Amino acid sequence: MEIAKVGLRSALEAREITRRQFIEFCSAMVATLALPSRYTTAVAEALEKTKRPVLVWLEFQDCAGNSESMLRSGDPPVGDFVLELFSWEYHELIMAGAGKKAEETLQRIVRDHKGEYIVVVEGAIPTADDGVYCTIGGRTALDIAREVCAHAAANIAIGACAWDGGVVSAGPNPTGAVGLQEAVPGIKVINLGGCPHNPANTAAVLVHYLTFNEMPELDQYNRPLFAYGNLIHDQCERRAHYDAGRFVEEWGDEAHRKGWCLYKVGCKGPEATYNCPTVRWNSGTSWPVKAGHGCIACASHRFWDTRSPFYDRLPSVPGFGVDVKAEEIGWIGTGVVAGAMVAQVAGNVVRDVLRARKDQDETDQTPDA
Ligand code: SF4
Ligand code: F3S
Repeated sequence: MEIAKVGLRSALEAREITRRQFIEFCSAMVATLALPSRYTTAVAEALEKTKRPVLVWLEFQDCAGNSESMLRSGDPPVGDFVLELFSWEYHELIMAGAGKKAEETLQRIVRDHKGEYIVVVEGAIPTADDGVYCTIGGRTALDIAREVCAHAAANIAIGACAWDGGVVSAGPNPTGAVGLQEAVPGIKVINLGGCPHNPANTAAVLVHYLTFNEMPELDQYNRPLFAYGNLIHDQCERRAHYDAGRFVEEWGDEAHRKGWCLYKVGCKGPEATYNCPTVRWNSGTSWPVKAGHGCIACASHRFWDTRSPFYDRLPSVPGFGVDVKAEEIGWIGTGVVAGAMVAQVAGNVVRDVLRARKDQDETDQTPDA
C-alpha cells in the first residue's frame, strides 16, 4: 500500500461523508477536548490542510478490543474520520497484506519516514525471558516496539494493556508484561487508558495533534487532562442519590430499578477519573453506570490489581466533592476525608431514617378518611 496523496476532502467524499458530517465531527472533537466551540472552524481548516501523516498501529499482547472500539464507533463515525485523517500503512487487523509483505511495509515506513509517522500501540509487551511470549514475524514485541517507536514522531498507548500492562500484567504476571512506556524507556508516550479506550478521546488527541502540532496537556501518567482530569463521581448522573444516601443494596432490588447510587455494590466512581459520563459510548447513548453497573475504574492505574474485587464496596473514599480535582486525590492519606465521607453517609442514613419516621408519624396522626 502506497502512502495516499489525496487530500482529506476527496478522501471523505469517496467514503460518502458529507461536509456537514465533517463539521459535526470537528464540533464533537472540540467538545471532547473541552475547547470553546469557536475552535470548530480552526480545527476544520487545519484538518482539511493535513498531509495525512502515516499511521502505524501495532498490536502485541491484546484482545483487539481497542481496534474494535475505534473501528465500530458510531455517530459521529469517529473511526471513519480517523481512517481518513491518516494514511494507515500498517494495522494487522485491517490491512490487506499479510506475512512477509506486511513486515516489509513496516520496515519501509521506519526507513523512509523516520521521525514523521505516528504509532498507536495496543496491548502489553512481555519482557520475561527476552520477550519470547509475544513474537510477530519471528521478532519479539519488545524488539519491534524498540525499533518502531524509537523513530516515531509520537507514540500513543491505547487501552489499559498498552498503558500499564492491563490484565496481562495482573498478578502473577508470568510473562513479565508491561506497558509501552516501561518497555521502551526514554521515548515519549501519550497514555490513553481504559478497557477499552474511548475512541472519541483517541480521535480528539489525534485531531489536537494535527491542528496544533502538539499533544494536549497531560497529567502525571502522561494522560490527556481533558479526558482523565475529573472524577467520575463528580460527573455522575446518580450523584444526587449518593448525596441523599439512596443506595442500591442488591442487584435487581427496587433501588437498582429506580437508578439509585451503586456505591454499596462496588462502584469505584469516587476514586476513578475519566470522561465516560460525558463522552459516553455507543454513539453517546450510554456508559457503564447509566446502564446499571458500577464503575470498575477501568481507566485507573493497574486497575485489575488495585481496584478489585470489583463488587466490594470501597473501604474508604478519598476527598470527594464537586471541587476536588483528580490530582488532589489518591489512595493514601484518606483518613480525614474518609471520616468526612463516613460521616456524610451516616448523616444521610440518619436523615432518611428521621424523615421516614416523620412521614410515619404524620401518617399515624392523619384521621382515617
Ligand atoms: Fe455514581 Fe458510582 Fe458515585 Fe454512585 S458511587 S454517584 S453510581 S459514580
Ligand atoms: Fe471504565 Fe468506569 Fe467508565 S469502568 S468506562 S471508567 S464508568
